[in-house]
Amino acid sequence: MTGLIPQDFIDDLIARADIVEVIGRRVQLKKAGREFKARCPFHDEKTPSFTVSPGKGFYHCFGCGAHGTAIGFLMEFDHMSFVEAIENLASSMGVDVPRDASDRPAHRYDELFSLMSSVEKHWQACLRDDKTAIEYLKRRGIDGETARRFGIGFAPDGWSNILDKFGKTPAAAERLLATGLIIRKDNGKHYDRFRDRIMFPIREHRGRTIGFGGRAVGDGEPKYLNSPETALFHKGRELYGLYEARQALRQIDSLIVVEGYMDVIALSRHGIDSAVATLGTATTTEHLNRLFRLTGNVTFCFDGDRAGKAAAWRALEHALPQIRNGRQVRFVFLPDGHDPDSYVNEHGADTFIKAVDEGLALSEYLIHELSSQVDMTTVDGKARLAETAKPLLNKIPAGVYRELLTGSLADAVGLTPAKIEKMLGEVPGSVTQRARRGTSTLLARRNKAMAGQPSIVRRAIALLLNHPEACAKLDVEKLAGVTRPGIELLHSLIETVQAEPNITTAGLLERWRSDDEGRHLGRLAAVEIPEEEEFDPVIELEACLEHLALAGRRERVDFLIEKQKLKSLTDEERSELRQLH
Ligand code: UTP
Ligand code: MN
Repeated sequence: MTGLIPQDFIDDLIARADIVEVIGRRVQLKKAGREFKARCPFHDEKTPSFTVSPGKGFYHCFGCGAHGTAIGFLMEFDHMSFVEAIENLASSMGVDVPRDASDRPAHRYDELFSLMSSVEKHWQACLRDDKTAIEYLKRRGIDGETARRFGIGFAPDGWSNILDKFGKTPAAAERLLATGLIIRKDNGKHYDRFRDRIMFPIREHRGRTIGFGGRAVGDGEPKYLNSPETALFHKGRELYGLYEARQALRQIDSLIVVEGYMDVIALSRHGIDSAVATLGTATTTEHLNRLFRLTGNVTFCFDGDRAGKAAAWRALEHALPQIRNGRQVRFVFLPDGHDPDSYVNEHGADTFIKAVDEGLALSEYLIHELSSQVDMTTVDGKARLAETAKPLLNKIPAGVYRELLTGSLADAVGLTPAKIEKMLGEVPGSVTQRARRGTSTLLARRNKAMAGQPSIVRRAIALLLNHPEACAKLDVEKLAGVTRPGIELLHSLIETVQAEPNITTAGLLERWRSDDEGRHLGRLAAVEIPEEEEFDPVIELEACLEHLALAGRRERVDFLIEKQKLKSLTDEERSELRQLH
């Protein structure tokens, strides 16, 4: 956390700081091509392997692996705290660090919040005046009282309604841009982001609106449009409906995580106030942290379709490291074709609550899902189940829960828990061990292929960090449904760069400074990417995404073929397989 210093100030500072000057004042640097070299100040060496890259805004030592931005350097070299480093850097550049509400840039936050609030009220007034929009909400079962509670509004059609009303001065237009309410064209002109859409305000913990989701009335594309990442709004952190849930419930005993705005609202309309939704992104570790801070009882209720299942599995993977005694995580899959919204509207609140109560415990879901992917009647299948479970179980902190789950797994494969524990202790992916255990070559081949794949994600991230500008036109949708270590990080990096095209490599590193997954970014940013004459980062990145999308499809086909062999394909999966072929 960066405390009271606004993120956009840090972004800006890091983009403008001259890292060569900052380090050069403390260490003797020598120019070497586009970069600068020195004997590393962090370890003893004779030949210089410490490199400073002014283009990327960061330093890296190929000897000891030390790396970071100008802020990081001050922290390491001068032993400053994060805030001290920022203050030092800012003062050397002649700017003041905005700290409290009376200062100008911090003050700007207030202005952004009050702008969001004005726009929200404006859209609510528009809704009252629009019969078609009201009719649409009514048709979807939303009454006036629910609409009021969630602050629902309507953005009428038109390219400059918001721009004309709230962006009269250049400064006002800047604020609209900073909150993502308008979009800037190449020619410098602006237009409204949200047109002809039902508007759902997204609120932070104090109830202030930080972003919007807009649903097309009718068949407009895309169906939902969300605010981009802004200084106020970070998708991976927020849960839609959490503020409203806390308002409605005196005490939060449990929370239900659903996929969509309308799911949260429909459930609330039926008296179920404990639903929250992730905002068009997968469940992140940060989401889970927030959920578990409020309650130990979390149920994921996703659609019964393929996307819903993929989302549930990802939520499971993220939940494993946070499982402990007293926490209960469950999964509910609604019948195919239903989402919580349609289900509660058709069957009522009691039936929905019953479905939630009967949800699969995390352990049941995990074992059920894994065993459905193998032939449990063969020794090989069981070995494979244990093998695939291994990295998952290893994510769970040691303790009673892990023992229980190991026990259930042991039951499922007919081994003793001790034997399973022993397997968990082994180095994953070691070929010799696998050979000794005598598992099939098919498994070995599969694991080998899997082991090679994370590197595509890593390559994409390295490319992106070295050439943020190459992301402008990337189609992140390609990554939908692809599950692979690091894919989420890649996804949010792309989104961040697209929302803030001027962000630098160092700016990205600072953004992810305190993030679990982001810890490795520094090393990836330092990866030397050989640039041949025809090297084009845009083409390279597109190729990576294409590759990932293809690999995702291929895995799905493999999975479906396996299931076909076991004669357990559903009709839906059968037609999916036909289509994929
Ligand atoms: P769904 O497509 O399941 O929509 O997307 P829904 O909630 O059932 O919506 P209705 O009932 O058709 O109105 C679930 C969530 O995924 C995100 C939104 O957050 C949505 O609530 N999403 C979906 C987008 O961000 N963009 C889209 O184009 C579609
Ligand atoms: Mn729906």
